[in-house]
Amino acid sequence: MIEIERISRAFGGLQAVREVSFTVETGSITGLIGPNGAGKSTLFNIIAGEIPPNSGRITLEGEDITGLPTHALFHKGLVRTFQIPHEFSRMTVRENLMLVPAAQRGETLLKSWLTWWKVIREDRAILRQADEVLDFLEIGHLRDELAGNLSGGQKKLLDLGRTMMTNAKAVLLDEPGAGVNRTLLGKLAEAIERLNRERGYTFCVIEHDMDLIARLCDPVMVMANGALIASGDMATLRENPEVREAYLGTGASGQAGAA
Ligand SMILES: Nc1ncnc2c1ncn2[C@@H]1O[C@H](COP(=O)(O)OP(=O)(O)OP(=O)(O)O)[C@@H](O)[C@H]1O
Ligand SMILES: [Mg+2]
Repeated sequence: MIEIERISRAFGGLQAVREVSFTVETGSITGLIGPNGAGKSTLFNIIAGEIPPNSGRITLEGEDITGLPTHALFHKGLVRTFQIPHEFSRMTVRENLMLVPAAQRGETLLKSWLTWWKVIREDRAILRQADEVLDFLEIGHLRDELAGNLSGGQKKLLDLGRTMMTNAKAVLLDEPGAGVNRTLLGKLAEAIERLNRERGYTFCVIEHDMDLIARLCDPVMVMANGALIASGDMATLRENPEVREAYLGTGASGQAGAA
C-alpha cells in the first residue's frame, strides 16, 4: 500500500534518515521501532507530507505522493497521529471529532473558523458519526468534556478517533501507547485491531512498548541512526544481535530484548 523507496533526510550536518526503503502491505499492521533519535518520527513526517525528503520516493497504491501536503494525503486516505496529541483543548471531545471532516476538505483553522462552528452546530450526520466513533472507542461518557481535561491516554484514544472521522485507508500512529495506562492500553490495542480487521485500515505504528508491538504488529521494521537495520516478526527480532546492539548501544538498555 505504502512503498518507501530510498528516503533520506538531513538536518544541517545530521543525517536523520538514511536511504530507508520498506513496504507497508495493504491490510497489515506494520511496526516501526528503534532507539530514541533513530529517525522514526522524521520518516513519518516525510510520509505524511510535513517535511520533504532530500531524496527518495513514496508511493501510495502505486501513485507517487512524495511531498504532497497533508490535506491532499487526507483526501487520498492517508492520515497520521502525533507523538504529542494535537487536540483543541478548549473544545469538547465531540467537537474535536466534528472538526475533522472540515479539516479534510483542506480548510485551515483561521480561514474557516465560522464554517467549522457551523459544522459543529448544524451538521447532524457528522454529529452522529462523532458519537459512533466515541462509542466504538468506549469514551462516549467523555463527549462533552473539554479535550484539555483528558488524561494522556484518553487524548491518544481521541487522536485515534479523529482518524475514524476521515475515510482513512492507511493510518500512521506515532507512539499511540506513550503515557497510556495499562487498562487504556488494552482498549487502544483492541481498537487498532478492530479497525484493522473490521474496517480494513492498514496501519504503520511507531512504538517503544515492545509488548504492544508484539501483540499488534507483523512485520516490524527496525531503525537505528537513521537507517533500517532489520525487519521481521518481533519474536525473531528479539533474538537479532544487531537489534539488541542498537538498543544497548544507546543506553536504552534492552528495550527490545528485555520486554
Ligand atoms: N526539525 C528538526 N530539526 C533538526 N533536527 C531534527 C528535527 N527533527 C528531528 N531532528 C533530529 O533527527 C533525529 C531523528 O529524530 P526523530 O524524532 O525522527 O527520532 P525518533 O526515532 O522519532 O525518536 P523518539 O523515539 O525519541 O521519538 C534526532 O537526532 C533529532 O534530534
Ligand atoms: Mg519520535
